[in-house]
Amino acid sequence: MSTGSPRVLPADGDLAEAAAVLRTGGLVAFPTETVYGLGANALDARAAARIFEAKQRPSFDPLITHLADAADLEALVGPVPPAVAALADRFWPGPLTLIVDRPDAIPPIVTSGLDTMAVRVPDNEYARRLIAAAGVPLAAPSANRFGQLSPTRAEHVVRGLGAAVEVVLDGGPTRCGIESTIVDARGERPVVLRLGALPVEEVEKITGPVTVRLGNSGQPVAPGTLAAHYAPRTPLRLLAAGEPPAGGGPRRGYLAFRDRPAQGWAVVEVLSASGDLTEAAAQLFEALHRLDVAGVSEIVAEPVPDTGVGRAVNDRLRRAAATWQPAG
Ligand code: TXA
Ligand code: MG
Repeated sequence: MSTGSPRVLPADGDLAEAAAVLRTGGLVAFPTETVYGLGANALDARAAARIFEAKQRPSFDPLITHLADAADLEALVGPVPPAVAALADRFWPGPLTLIVDRPDAIPPIVTSGLDTMAVRVPDNEYARRLIAAAGVPLAAPSANRFGQLSPTRAEHVVRGLGAAVEVVLDGGPTRCGIESTIVDARGERPVVLRLGALPVEEVEKITGPVTVRLGNSGQPVAPGTLAAHYAPRTPLRLLAAGEPPAGGGPRRGYLAFRDRPAQGWAVVEVLSASGDLTEAAAQLFEALHRLDVAGVSEIVAEPVPDTGVGRAVNDRLRRAAATWQPAG
């Protein structure tokens, strides 16, 4: 366990210090439009190794490389297949991660030994300015300890990682609130490896029909898709669609989509009172972080409508609930 605190700097201030930390092999957490990332120089194997250490992340779980600009992709990896280029053109900067061949410049530790690499251009001004100021691509997973809730605020990063990270850039709450969608568009029919902030329907408008293949166990394709992941410390039980929110109590919290349940719960979090799925996604980890520090002994969550970005929200809830066991 690391003690002490990182330096928290405003993301809209001078980024020279953060860029210098990155260039000398250190770790900087920074905001993206999805969640906060824990960044290191992606060209430096030793810097990348520090990410795995800080997150207590298994070395089989590869990192995403972040670029400042879509134009930097070909410079790093050379020509890419047409569908990959088309998706990058349409959605970058944005919450879409693409799979490409790993270039020699990226050390194998970044990709956990895979000969493919995940890459994206985040749609956050501070993130892109930081990458440009560092002058190197940044390997960055979500800035949380492995398996825990993803951070959507600088405070979450400080609470979760402490002094394991040198600098945290505070850019306020993140806009999307859940991670990027991961797509492997190198083959004939694109494969979605992780549901995320960009709805599958949007990807299909560019590529035609895709296959959704989410790993669950064994050798995961995208280990962020491990069955138990994104979990609060408090046990979380996920209701079936349409199941009534029965069984409140003084020590139980409830996560609702749009309607507050009848009284009887210690704490209630509503993801979107207007029933908006984009807002629900943005609030998901926020609400789970709040429920997790509310001192309840169980969180009961209801699924959201399983369409658009709602599919990614339900995916996170299922994984958060994967280790839940009935009490007694
Ligand atoms: O929105 C996001 O993607 C955030 C922000 C910080 O950019 N990052 C993020 O990183 O979610 P992380 O490490 O928490 O999740 C990365 C996911 C993992 O599930 C990993 O297994 C998968 O990307 N991944 C990385 N490289 C891959 C590859 N070559 N093939 C398949 N999956 C890969
Ligand atoms: Mg993660």
